[in-house]
Amino acid sequence: MELFQLVEEVKEKIAKVKNLAELREIEVEILGRKGKISLFLKGLKKIKALEERRRKGKEINEAKSFLTELIRRKEEILARQLEEEILKKEEIDISQPGIKPRKGHLHLITKTIWQIEEIFKKMGFAVADGPEIETPYYNFDALNIPENHPARDLWDTFWLKKKNYLLRTHTSPVQIRYMEKKNPPLRIIAPGKVFRYEATDASHEIQFHQIEGLMVDKKVSLGNFKAIIKEFFNEFFSEETDIRFRPSYFPFTEPSVEIDIKPKKTDKWLEIMGAGMVHPKVLANVKINPLEWTGFAFGAGIERLIMIKYNIPDIRLFYKGDLRFIRQF
Ligand code: PHE
Repeated sequence: MELFQLVEEVKEKIAKVKNLAELREIEVEILGRKGKISLFLKGLKKIKALEERRRKGKEINEAKSFLTELIRRKEEILARQLEEEILKKEEIDISQPGIKPRKGHLHLITKTIWQIEEIFKKMGFAVADGPEIETPYYNFDALNIPENHPARDLWDTFWLKKKNYLLRTHTSPVQIRYMEKKNPPLRIIAPGKVFRYEATDASHEIQFHQIEGLMVDKKVSLGNFKAIIKEFFNEFFSEETDIRFRPSYFPFTEPSVEIDIKPKKTDKWLEIMGAGMVHPKVLANVKINPLEWTGFAFGAGIERLIMIKYNIPDIRLFYKGDLRFIRQF
């Protein structure tokens, strides 16, 4: 084969090459140590005439650099094509619908507290709060539970190492803190965490939430309370809910009652909250004249309200952090 024929043949081959691997094969076949160009160079030895050998040698070297350059250019083109193909695969189709990352949401307890707040706000109640670490004065004494009084045994208390502090056993201390600062007439609710040193079971946790209510005005009566709390339950359960009062005892209310409810879906009376008329001594403790003002107060366990509403069998589910539970609400 003549050199010019080889060059023509290789030019055609290179034009048809589809990928870098094929190109590499041609490169070896033509320019490699045992390649076709090498063969031509070896053939030079046979040429005796010096002039002729030089001319032929020059020709072969020119063909070699021509083909080398041709291969280099083709290599560039193929590399660019490959890059484009890869980019195309990675391309983001912005017309596709977006994938929403799974977001968290508020815990059922928080949602419920907000819902309860909304119901009471509509009835003119403000939302108050107080510290979870309390002094015995606010948790007990100011609420007419003196030291050594057997009623202190009603609440099993966590005492802090730092003397004279405890984790509040109920939200009732917020009544005192609020009335110390504000003059009647007043209407508040106070949701929050409370703590009891108790063994846990399906209906007891060492930490749970209560919602406290307090209304102080001229001539407030248990009748007013009954109307307000009935309205609350109707709204909370989104249906007419029967309620009844039973006599009870709390040191800070007189008279005291226990409230039972009977939601439509159950035929049992369920104990739901304690309440009563604010004890005159409690009013006196915060320098409100009990002859001029009267009030009612109530306290309910929030988890218990939720458990009734959604048929949740075990209070411990609220704090387990089990997503199968949490995501249901
Ligand atoms: N603090 C009481 C409890 O935790 C509930 C209560 C509040 C009772 C207000 C009467 C008035 O059991």
